[in-house]
Amino acid sequence: MRLSVIGCGYVGLVTGACLAEAGHQVVCTDIDSERIAKLNAGGVPIYELHLSQILKSARAAGKISYTANGGEAIRASDAIFICVGTPPKENGEADLSAIDHCARQIAAEANGPKLVIEKSTVPARTGIELTRALAAYGRNDQIKFRVASNPEFLREGTAVEDFFHPDRIVVGVEDPSAAEDLREIYRPIIERRFTCPVHNGTCPPGPRGELLVTTINSAELIKHASNSFLALKISYANVIADLCERIGADVEEVTRAMGLDPRIGGQFLKAGLGFGGFCFPKDVQAFIHLAASVGVDFDILKAAERVNKERIGRYTEKIRKALWVVKGKRVAVLGLAFKANTDDIRFAPALEVIRELLAEGAEVHATDPEAIPRTQAVFPQLHYHDDPYAALKHADAALVCTEWDAFKKIDWERAGKLMARKLVIDGRNLYSPESMRALGFQYHCFGRP
Ligand code: UGA
Repeated sequence: MRLSVIGCGYVGLVTGACLAEAGHQVVCTDIDSERIAKLNAGGVPIYELHLSQILKSARAAGKISYTANGGEAIRASDAIFICVGTPPKENGEADLSAIDHCARQIAAEANGPKLVIEKSTVPARTGIELTRALAAYGRNDQIKFRVASNPEFLREGTAVEDFFHPDRIVVGVEDPSAAEDLREIYRPIIERRFTCPVHNGTCPPGPRGELLVTTINSAELIKHASNSFLALKISYANVIADLCERIGADVEEVTRAMGLDPRIGGQFLKAGLGFGGFCFPKDVQAFIHLAASVGVDFDILKAAERVNKERIGRYTEKIRKALWVVKGKRVAVLGLAFKANTDDIRFAPALEVIRELLAEGAEVHATDPEAIPRTQAVFPQLHYHDDPYAALKHADAALVCTEWDAFKKIDWERAGKLMARKLVIDGRNLYSPESMRALGFQYHCFGRP
């Protein structure tokens, strides 16, 4: 099937690249013509594992192309994936102006029937508005649009792997033909008819993702309900960590035992600095806002959001307690990205921590395997180091803000000799408190004695 993707952010690029790799013909477009020029020149504007490799092979096979001309992309396809941003407004509500722009553009440029698929995360009932906008702006009554919702469940850092090995593919439709078209689009994935770029064709056995057909409203709700539930789980683990600190228990022991109950599950119970990124914080806000707009008070989600915001304060309090005076202290911040394996710093807890440290007059030395260039644009005044040991040199404290593997492997014996003071304040619970203390470190973390 001929597909187009509007929006070349991480969701759009991963979707386009993976569908092209699975055998479809894909045209990608974006209003940012510089981004398109970069893609056309063989560059990849974001860091995502395996993405540049599959973009390259899909391009070589003639399966993917890029154009800054949105009309051209729309006319070239039967089905259009909308993958544009839906950032939060001041009041937490999702800003749907980019979706509205796509609707008007599709309506104006379409030369035949189109299946318009929402992939961007949107509040429930957006599909209804999208259908209305397509009809209102259409210039030819003979051209029919069908709308579907196909939310993505891709985690940054493992998005390609997630795309090829989904646990579920949700398609929200109003008519069965749209469901059939989407089944056709995803057939290579469901039937595993692709050469897996992640496992080199030998994927580990596991259940095949189920394609679930729902209404559009349900599909939209599934996405927000899933992300919000995971955010809730993280905040729950963080409150347990606070409780452990007061009571003298170990949050790792508690959450591990909890997670062995299959009704709870062990994932997303990792206590620490809390959730960041461009999905959870904004989706939680948008979901609270949506609920309020229909008269439902989502109190538990508001509490989860509050707990998450308080993590930064809890962490800086630990820093202040350990350092006594922050002003003039040299601190090494290990990790800038909102999580490991990405260069994304949007709503990254590390940035909030840095903001507070700078306000208090600390000298910040930062390191991250991928996110330094993006952070430089926000904080040009920091000292940046590619090598974590260089960041740790003469530091009064090491502050672990992202759970990168590279940081798990740091040789603390070596680092301790470089630092001005052997102090680690671990925002991600990466190390064993016993081992760190055995090496002579003063070690602080979340919810562990
Ligand atoms: C999230 C969801 O996991 C995806 O399923 C979804 O498709 C995506 O949002 C989206 O809406 O596009 P992502 O934002 O890439 O994916 O990141 P996660 O791996 O979910 O982590 C989110 C944040 O929670 C990170 O800051 C991470 O450090 C934090 N986290 C995660 C914890 O603090 N504790 C945990 O136990 C797990």
